[in-house]
Formats: sequence, structure tokens, C-alpha cells
Amino acid sequence: MTRERIISGSELSPQEDLAQFSLRPGVLSDYIGQNELRGKLEVLLQAAKGRGEPVEHVLLYGPPGLGKTTLAHIIAHEMDSRIVSSSGPTLQRTGDLMGILTNLGEGDILFVDEIHRLSTVIEEFIYPAMEDFKVDFVVDKGAFAKVINIPLKRFTLVGATTRAGMLSAPLRDRFGLYYHIDFYPAKDLEEIVLRSARLLEIEIDREAAAVVSARSRGTPRIANRLLRRVRDYSSVKANGRVNAAVATEALDAEGVDSAGLDNLDRKLLRVIIDYYKGGPVGIEALASTLGEESDTLVDMVEPFLLKIGFLQRTKRGRMVSEKAARHLGLKMSSSGPQENLF
Ligand code: ADE
Repeated sequence: MTRERIISGSELSPQEDLAQFSLRPGVLSDYIGQNELRGKLEVLLQAAKGRGEPVEHVLLYGPPGLGKTTLAHIIAHEMDSRIVSSSGPTLQRTGDLMGILTNLGEGDILFVDEIHRLSTVIEEFIYPAMEDFKVDFVVDKGAFAKVINIPLKRFTLVGATTRAGMLSAPLRDRFGLYYHIDFYPAKDLEEIVLRSARLLEIEIDREAAAVVSARSRGTPRIANRLLRRVRDYSSVKANGRVNAAVATEALDAEGVDSAGLDNLDRKLLRVIIDYYKGGPVGIEALASTLGEESDTLVDMVEPFLLKIGFLQRTKRGRMVSEKAARHLGLKMSSSGPQENLF
């Protein structure tokens, strides 16, 4: 089942992508949070500029919506270079990749999103390009097959992945900088909300920005999305001014609660508490009780619940924590289903 969730870290539509684009910081000094990464990038960029060389290849990994694409664009901007964007699933033929690589100029950035989804053939094709700035291209077949060695300009590959574990070791080893982008603390998100509100000319106070950021699951893309919903709500119901009460009302109406959970998150936790006495319960049993695919639960629902300690994954199955039960106002039952299910 595909489902649009307002608290998804992924883009929901091309229109949304456009709306987010206008809010992206274009230079490193406008980028809020991730101080350690920013520090490292500053050194990397300045050193490369000082030597008059392209930046080393950079690999960014972390959950969707945290700014991997934004950072790739910032690197290109700071280096005064062009950026060509592609992604693991779309780069299927070596011929296409050849075309992209041979058209790159000195210092250009090749951004490959979802780089863990490159096929093995493409991955092997890319190794010499990254390491020695050349590609070996086979022309003709059988007895006439020839390998042509084509030199490339020194480019920078910026790879992004949500699954570092799925990247092969040889590919990972070819990056000079390898960095994990983590969820943003609420304070940083609050600054991002205030910055976006300024750009969108939304009247919002700091308390309201704190309400939005607390419900944004540590993710700027979600924060910016919730901010736009809050703006719409306030323009219809509150003269366009956003204070904490209006932000709370608007997000409650969207079904996003004070911990950033939506209906599906709450439903999953409630089912474990009510039907399985808080767990442990196997993922397949849970999926069938909920009428969802187990992959949907594993990829789209569980990660955030695990991260905030509402859910635990044990050998015997999933368990709900006391903290989660308290958040939902439920007691862990040891005597079967409770009332008010869903
Ligand atoms: N918009 C999205 N992510 C941002 C960030 N890290 N800093 C500033 N604005 C942003």
C-alpha cells in the first residue's frame, strides 16, 4: 500500500520538492545545525580551494529529509562548480553513465542519490572513475572486443544513502569523507522553522516554532512541511498569525501529536499494547493484525519509534516501552485487550 504520511521524511510530490527547494540554504554559512559536519566540510572545501584542486569524494548517509541533497548543492556552490544530479536506480546503463562522466568538467560535482541502489556493473564501472579519473569502456563483442581507456576530468562524486550498511566496502572505501547526518535536535529545528518562516513571510513566534519543531521528528523537511500546513490553518482560522495555540490546533487537526506521531504510529503501538500485552510480537503477526505489509512497518513506521525509545526490537519480537504507553495514556495490560482500541 502506498500512503502519504505528513510525517514522512521523503518528498511527497514534485510540487512539494519545488516548495522545499526555495527554503534550502544555498551556502554553508546559512546551514543550521550539524555543526561537526559543517566544520569538516569547511576544512575540506577551503583546503581544496587553497590547492586549486577538486574536493575529495564525499559520502553522506542518514535518514531521508535531513539535507543530503542540500549539502551536495552547497558544495557545488562553494566550489563555483556545476552539479549534475542522478540516482542509483536511474543509472542503469554504463552508456548513460559514460555520457554523464565524460561531460563533467574539472571540479564538477556528480551527485548520486540512493547510491546503495547502484547495480554491481555500474559500481564496478565507477571505481576507476573515482580513483584514477578514467573509465574502461568495452566496444565491440567477442573476438573484436576492445577496451578503450577514456580519461576524465577530475570531478567530485557526492553520494547519498539512507542505508550505509547496504553499500559495498570497496565503494565506501573510495570516498575521502564519509559522514553520518543524524536527526536534528529540537533547538536546531526551531531555528530552521524560524528561518523558513522569515523566507515565507509567516508571522510566527518562538513558542509556536518550538511546537512545530517538537513534532517534526528531527527532520527539516518535515518541519518545513508542517510549517506550511500551520500557515494555511492560521490564514483561515487565525488572521495569519501563528502562536503556540494556533500551531498546536493546526497540527492536532493534522493528526500529528506532541511527539510527532501520526495515526499509523499510534495504531501500531496500541495494537501491541491491547492485543499483545505490550509484546513481544513477531512482525508478521503485527502486520496482519494491522492489515499492513511487514515491509511498510519495518521501513516506514518502526525507525522513528525505535529511535525515540517507544518501541524495542528483541529476538522474540517487538515490544512497546512504558514511555510509549504513558504517551498514549494507556496502561500496559496483562489481562487482554483494553477498551477504546483505535
Ligand atoms: N532547510 C532545510 N534544512 C536546513 C538547514 N539545515 N539549515 C537551514 N535551512 C534548512
